[in-house]
Amino acid sequence: MCGIVGVVGNRNATDILMQGLEKLEYRGYDSAGIYVANGHKSSLVKSVGRIADLRAKIGIDVAGSTGIGHTRWATHGQATEDNAHPHTSATGRFVLVHNGVIENYLQIKEQYLAGHDLKGQTDTEIAVHLIGQFVEDGLSVLEAFKKALSIIEGSYAFALVDSEDTDTVYVAKNKSPLLIGLGDGYNMVCSDAMAMIRETSEFMEIHDKEMVILTKDSATVTDYEGNEIERGSYTAELDLSDIGKGTYPFYMLKEIDEQPTVMRKLISTYADSEGNMNIDPAIVKSVQEADRIYILAAGTSYNAGFASKTMLEKLTDTPVELGVASEWGYNMPLLSEKPMFILLSQSGETADSRQVLVKANEMGIPSLTVTNVPGSTLSREATYTILLHAGPEIAVASTKAYTAQVAALAFLAKAVGEANGKAEALDFDLVHELSLVAQSIEATLSEKDMIAEKVEKLLSTTRNAFYIGRGNDYYVAMEASLKLKEISYIQCEGFAAGELKHGTISLIEDGTPVIGLISSSELVAAHTRGNIQEVAARGAHVLTVVEEGLEREGDDIVVNKVHPFLATIGMVIPTQLIAYYASLQRGLDVDKPRNLAKAVTVE
Ligand code: M6R
Repeated sequence: MCGIVGVVGNRNATDILMQGLEKLEYRGYDSAGIYVANGHKSSLVKSVGRIADLRAKIGIDVAGSTGIGHTRWATHGQATEDNAHPHTSATGRFVLVHNGVIENYLQIKEQYLAGHDLKGQTDTEIAVHLIGQFVEDGLSVLEAFKKALSIIEGSYAFALVDSEDTDTVYVAKNKSPLLIGLGDGYNMVCSDAMAMIRETSEFMEIHDKEMVILTKDSATVTDYEGNEIERGSYTAELDLSDIGKGTYPFYMLKEIDEQPTVMRKLISTYADSEGNMNIDPAIVKSVQEADRIYILAAGTSYNAGFASKTMLEKLTDTPVELGVASEWGYNMPLLSEKPMFILLSQSGETADSRQVLVKANEMGIPSLTVTNVPGSTLSREATYTILLHAGPEIAVASTKAYTAQVAALAFLAKAVGEANGKAEALDFDLVHELSLVAQSIEATLSEKDMIAEKVEKLLSTTRNAFYIGRGNDYYVAMEASLKLKEISYIQCEGFAAGELKHGTISLIEDGTPVIGLISSSELVAAHTRGNIQEVAARGAHVLTVVEEGLEREGDDIVVNKVHPFLATIGMVIPTQLIAYYASLQRGLDVDKPRNLAKAVTVE
């Protein structure tokens, strides 16, 4: 979703902005633009499409030491150059980039901007016209910015430049992510650290409803009344090499391949050399005290919640309920007496999940964010955080974050179970079992060519498909189908195998691809095989993914057996590869599927 980068100081702003925007591409966007200033000489360049299209429009005269850039994911108005950021005020003096949604933009237009001629349909253009108008009315730039912020409602990350004084970038944030990057003789602002890591590893957080006055030598944080706020900096763990694609054609394949390493990293982080759990005792206590765990998340993270549910319930003896964050934010159901909320989020920035967390905080409910991004909004605002240590996930389609989420929750579940003295938890040798999972993943990854071939036969021309499974396999089917539709555009449903015959089987016709997932017990396997027979009898083209020990002659993909608590990790890997090859074989951009954004920062 929209990305912001800005810089002021002794550097080549055009280069920094373009490099930064390229690093933000993974977030998803459909147009982009930069504004660069050198004293009173400035350039504004915008383009619909990719950053490469923008780059093609940038001549050598687009140069300066202050600048702001933006990738836009259209919300208000189509992806056109007029709607692309940066936007300018009525006289052209002020230039603004924005990430978020201004909810009261139409009221603002009506109340303050009568007679203003707007070029596009965006809420952002209204914000910069408002600031410009206040300056025309006699306020200083800072006062005008503050006054606008007191009127604007909604989510925003703003970076503003006054073309008459380009030594300062004015920054403000509410609900949308934004960070300050600190350099020697220059300072930066950006939606996430990845866009700045080439320039600096020193960062400073901005909290909601804070402003930052950014110059080449200072970054002054204040509240909206102008009171200065002390804020230390931190060094990001991120390495430039972490965010490269290396020799891989797509990030998604690289990230799929990284999963064994991520499993081992989690072992070394959350267990000591003797296999004892290394989870913050305060988190363990908080879960112990809960009478129900509520997992709130979106998309793949929601599916990861399901993939962890059985294990969490069995090890902690606490019921686990799942909630779609975008629903719960506005429609909180009746909760148990002592709820504990777990927010699962790779990015830690998902606006829907944050909305639930805001509610939970208002209600005094203890919360734990399980995320891949330290210092992210969900991490900062929850009572506790567990980090995934999966390294940056750049492909829009989430893979290693899903498996890391399940594995991280396994450490939590075991730690709680042990603290409760539960035999099943004490006997569960997680360190050993997770090492076997890493090996199982490696074994599946060594079968890529075979999987690619089967995908070509099954999915090359189809418009729809089904994944079916029972129990944990059903949960994996949910994720497998999301992954397939997300990047191959094949309409795919993940179904509880036994539920098909209650309606959906009417969709099965000659050649409909159905992928059957079979792990767990002989009994479950037998029932799922029965359901596979039912669809095959109606002409379905079936592919089976089966756990070792349950396989039969003619099965397609066999996955190494792992502990049942962790089977959802082993079973999901072939489905990630199925989605990858289906997308690749259709000639699609695997990493940047249409219409999608990596971090969904609007509700
Ligand atoms: O960053 P989050 O885990 O909170 O993101 C939630 C979803 O937007 C995300 O998982 C999305 O579904 C992925 N693109 C799926 O691959």
